[in-house]
Amino acid sequence: MKTYEHIACAVEDGVITVTFNRPEVFNAMNAESVEEFGQIVDAIEADPAIRVVILTGAGSKSFVAGADIARMQNFSASAARTFMLAGQNVLIKLEHSAKPYIAAINGYALGGGLEIAMACDLRYAADTATMGQPEIFLGITPGWGGTQRLTRLVGKGIAKEMVFTGERISAQRAYAIGLVNGVHPRETLLEETRKLARKLAELPRGTMAMAKQTIEMGYDMPNTEANLFESTMCGMCFGQDEQREWMRKFLKK
Ligand code: COA
Repeated sequence: MKTYEHIACAVEDGVITVTFNRPEVFNAMNAESVEEFGQIVDAIEADPAIRVVILTGAGSKSFVAGADIARMQNFSASAARTFMLAGQNVLIKLEHSAKPYIAAINGYALGGGLEIAMACDLRYAADTATMGQPEIFLGITPGWGGTQRLTRLVGKGIAKEMVFTGERISAQRAYAIGLVNGVHPRETLLEETRKLARKLAELPRGTMAMAKQTIEMGYDMPNTEANLFESTMCGMCFGQDEQREWMRKFLKK
């Protein structure tokens, strides 16, 4: 994996930790970081040695504090739309990826930061983390898929409350509303997330990819088609070595 200016990457035991690394602005994302993030996601997808991805933020306070406001303030409407589409395209890549993405939310996950976390498959937060869609305070709406992914994760009522008020919520409330899968003490968040990632890295990777795809694609389909799609995907598993290997292993013990 080559090195990048705004994002750090480290691979160990098939797990890559991708760290948003602009601590001087609480890891806010400018156009260059978005571009780098897209390149990293492509490189991860192409690297068979990487099985699971963790996203986190540099420093102890912030995951990602959103898009870089200083860089956005003088955008024209069309430049803003281009920037929003660029962010959205990277996040769609995460959802289309064959690999599981886990957000380790070590601090502020605001605006684009929460939108990045919501595009991950799983989210774990530090007990000190806070999350929100504060765009209303800037006179804009969320633009990297926040209105849609938040609504799907927590339902329309809470999504509207968060987007209308712009208020931050605690990690504990995020867990209570299903926005994160779990909460860990800040000091152990990354280690706990890595433990889970290593566990996922040992499971059959083709099956994992198919499970992710079935949930992602099926979610946008009418129920009958989604169930048909599921039976087709499950049927296809039987054409893969992993199914024979893992069933043989089960029956042996
Ligand atoms: N874009 C650009 N710079 C940002 C930023 C962002 N999204 N978030 C934080 N920063 C910068 C601040 O401007 C400040 O820079 P400075 O030291 O040069 O003044 C530095 O990061 C630290 O932020 P500060 O506001 O001083 O820290 P705080 O602890 O008082 O508050 C936050 C932290 C994250 C709550 C606050 O910075 C904030 O609300 N940020 C904006 C979040 C947001 O609206 N995101 C959505 C953008 S669409």
